[in-house]
Amino acid sequence: PHKKVEKICCLGAGYVGGPTCAVIAARNPHVQVTIVDLNALRIAAWNSDDLPIYEPGLDEVVKSCRGRNLFFSTDVDKAIIEADLIFVSVNTPTKTQGMGAGFAADLGYVESATRHIAKVAQGDKIVVEKSTVPCRTAQSMRFILEANARPGIHFDILSNPEFLAEGTAIADLMNPDRVLIGSLNTEAGRSAAASLVDIYAGWIKREQIITTNLWSSELTKLAANAMLAQRISSINALSAICEATGADVDEVSYACGLDTRIGPKFLKASVGFGGSCFQKDILNLVYLSESLHLPEVAAYWKQVVEMNEYQKKRFVNRIISCLFNTLTGKKIAILGFAFKKDTGDTRESPAITLCKYLRAERANVAIYDPKVAESQIWMDLTEPGITDDLAKLQKQISIADSAYAACKGADAVVVCTEWDEFRNTRLDYRKVYEMMNKPAFIFDGRLILDQKELESIGFHVEMIGRPRGNFETSMQWE
Ligand code: UDX
Ligand code: UDX
Ligand code: ADP
Repeated sequence: PHKKVEKICCLGAGYVGGPTCAVIAARNPHVQVTIVDLNALRIAAWNSDDLPIYEPGLDEVVKSCRGRNLFFSTDVDKAIIEADLIFVSVNTPTKTQGMGAGFAADLGYVESATRHIAKVAQGDKIVVEKSTVPCRTAQSMRFILEANARPGIHFDILSNPEFLAEGTAIADLMNPDRVLIGSLNTEAGRSAAASLVDIYAGWIKREQIITTNLWSSELTKLAANAMLAQRISSINALSAICEATGADVDEVSYACGLDTRIGPKFLKASVGFGGSCFQKDILNLVYLSESLHLPEVAAYWKQVVEMNEYQKKRFVNRIISCLFNTLTGKKIAILGFAFKKDTGDTRESPAITLCKYLRAERANVAIYDPKVAESQIWMDLTEPGITDDLAKLQKQISIADSAYAACKGADAVVVCTEWDEFRNTRLDYRKVYEMMNKPAFIFDGRLILDQKELESIGFHVEMIGRPRGNFETSMQWE
């Protein structure tokens, strides 16, 4: 019979650890869940009315169990000592220097968290790898734990990748397609997996909780993200063909998606994918393939990221050429800075790259996003590799507190994030039109706008995956 988990600790109160363990606590009232972080400000925010991350539904979940069986703390040692099961949910950024720079994951945080568990644990623990990590990380964690454990203490390692998407985290956690738990194929390993299955069975059907070996579980996380990103790069590659031929990418993707073997989801052409996972996980997969001496496999996956970069560049080139080949001194309004709607997260957001290119053309850029903090935008635009001249940046970039303020006096509006408030039904585009320079251009990088309606107002409209504004009339294809 396997151990019944009574106390859980989560190392790392970020986008993954926070929402995941909050839902675990909400659905397992008898289990005590303590989420710890080295970052005291972040923990203070989790304990306040103003949570450090924005997710629809998260406030309600946290409020329902915080102080009851859900706790946020900086006392890492105490939480480790008390817990039967520990989620490791720390950051794993892409390495910026040294071996594998630009591709491999920096496992420094995972390793230091693992060493810390070994150092302070006074009894047996189940250690669960929750961060997205390269294949075989669990093996390294096990090695570190065993080499540093006090005599008589036993550690079991599980891999339990998280598939939630930001903006829908709570819905995804409440009703996941599946939960994946990888363990060693030993009696102890299977028993540890069974303990974790019980936790998820608090609200998820047992047949949706899948157990595999450790390596399958680790690889599945990278594979799932790589295949999702690949679908986006595939439709984005087709969007380039659509723009050049007169096909409409939404029509193509709808018709393709009706084939049940293809399916309708994740085929929305866009200015490019962003987020903390897709690029990082693919680069991880590329690095893994290269380390395994599989260069053809590496090249295949790398192309998915290259297509994404090309899509961003292509979109900017279209803006430049429509605006008579010069952006110098023109005002461009960027609507949306988050990498997708319903999140304040900007990691790898295509808007960052767009702003960089637009600035290089000496445009003045006004940015508006309903959820991204102004300080975050400045931080993103001053990252190394984006800009090094702050004074010049401040002259070229302004941050607006409404879409209208951003669009005032603009030559072009560029939709970068698909926020609902930018839709025709929500934003008064007549008002926007009146306050813009003429000709007034709109570039829709998310395919959320009603082109015909905007054109009837007087806008010149350019949509991803649809032919250039005057293409149809000049070719007389209607
Ligand atoms: C294909 C398309 O499925 C069909 O819609 C189109 O009209 C014509 O091309 P077909 O080539 O007849 O049909 O067979 P299909 O079942 O698609 O298989 C094509 C090849 O892919 C076969 O060699 C098959 O063995 C292989 N395949 C298919 C795989 O290797 N793995 C799979 O998961 C599916
Ligand atoms: C992704 C995976 O979906 C999730 O399962 C995994 O756990 C973490 O990585 P996330 O990055 O939060 O989640 O958001 P997702 O909805 O996947 O979107 C990623 C990017 O792709 C966004 O920039 C989004 O706008 C873009 N996207 C998505 C498209 O451009 N087109 C689509 O059809 C879907
Ligand atoms: P993710 O998107 O994967 O959740 P985040 O960067 O949002 O990543 O969160 C990771 C969190 O892990 C950060 O808040 C960081 O301070 C925390 N962290 C890193 N190392 C440790 C550690 N050894 N113990 C506890 N927390 C840690």
